[in-house]
Amino acid sequence: MAKNTKKIALLTGGGDCPGLNAVIRAVTRTAILQYGYEVIGYKFGYRGLYNNESIPLTLDTVSGILHKGGTILYSSNKDNLFDYLVEENGKMVKKDVSDVAVENLKKEGVDTLVVIGGDGTLTSARDFARKGINVIGVPKTIDNDLAATDVTFGFNSAVSVATEALDRLHTTAESHHRIMLLEVMGRNAGWIALESGIAGSADVILIPEIPYDLNKIVEKIGEREKEGKLFSIIVVAEGAKSKNGDVVISKIVEDSPDPIRLGGIANKLALDLERLVKDHEIRSTVLGHTQRGGNTSTYDRILSTRYGVAAVELIAQEKFGNMVCLKGDTISYESLENVIGHTKDVDPNSELVKVARSIGISFGD
Ligand code: F6P
Repeated sequence: MAKNTKKIALLTGGGDCPGLNAVIRAVTRTAILQYGYEVIGYKFGYRGLYNNESIPLTLDTVSGILHKGGTILYSSNKDNLFDYLVEENGKMVKKDVSDVAVENLKKEGVDTLVVIGGDGTLTSARDFARKGINVIGVPKTIDNDLAATDVTFGFNSAVSVATEALDRLHTTAESHHRIMLLEVMGRNAGWIALESGIAGSADVILIPEIPYDLNKIVEKIGEREKEGKLFSIIVVAEGAKSKNGDVVISKIVEDSPDPIRLGGIANKLALDLERLVKDHEIRSTVLGHTQRGGNTSTYDRILSTRYGVAAVELIAQEKFGNMVCLKGDTISYESLENVIGHTKDVDPNSELVKVARSIGISFGD
């Protein structure tokens, strides 16, 4: 039988996301107030675990952070300890250094590691569980593309930022009779574009799951003109692509487990449309990391708090190797073995896409 947990360590990995601090706070408060556990946090994700760099997490350290985006523990989306860049004989080589992490956990007397992250970070969490470490996962990503949970925290905050941007673009687009493009995040899944597009009353939503045809977008702009609407708003996910084209890559981040960074589709589309739409100026805005920064939405504060409390309850019940998740209205859990690599894309036949189409939004298809 697993021994009684007395000391919990937390880490946050991958791209940051609103709600990380709320989870850190909820785990720490529940662990201390309900169970009297000791809590520490490793800095910079798995790198901190490798370097044994941690801070104590107390009621004081987690005070005043509920609403703040980012993570007081910092994060890294490069450090996979199962394939880690180390210097050996003057050369940089990739090695499995996970045993160093296991040793550090032992030295520190950590009974359970709570890992807050997306698919990459949770893959390592599963691999540490396979090495016998007591691990609990908490799913995060603004992209909302993890299949095992109905919602990841951070998504609602990102959608709110994108919706506000669309509201702001509307007023200026209308004044100048312009076509305005807004590029939002979403590499493989178009959830942010879809939901902000509906909430922010976009005329066209372009997502990776529904490849677009430029002529259909031009048609939609023309239809609006006939209705006397002399401006149009297009929200485009960074991973959107045309029927015969490919995604637009902005940079390659070496050492990242997922090195391709997308970006630039809105500018490309603006140039493409300029050739076909003569009587309007076209402008594009790239929302970028504003979608991940700033304050956490009320929905995400509550979801993150629920996840944090649930993570500690799993520890108390010794249900290790699991990830907390939301199914419908209920907080539940799923084995880390089953959650990895299962992504959740927008189903082109889903109710939400149909809703958008019903009210006249075009997907450019
Ligand atoms: O997965 C979250 C995400 O925000 C994506 O939507 C985006 O493509 C990517 O991370 C950006 O990563 P980085 O912050 O490393 O540029």
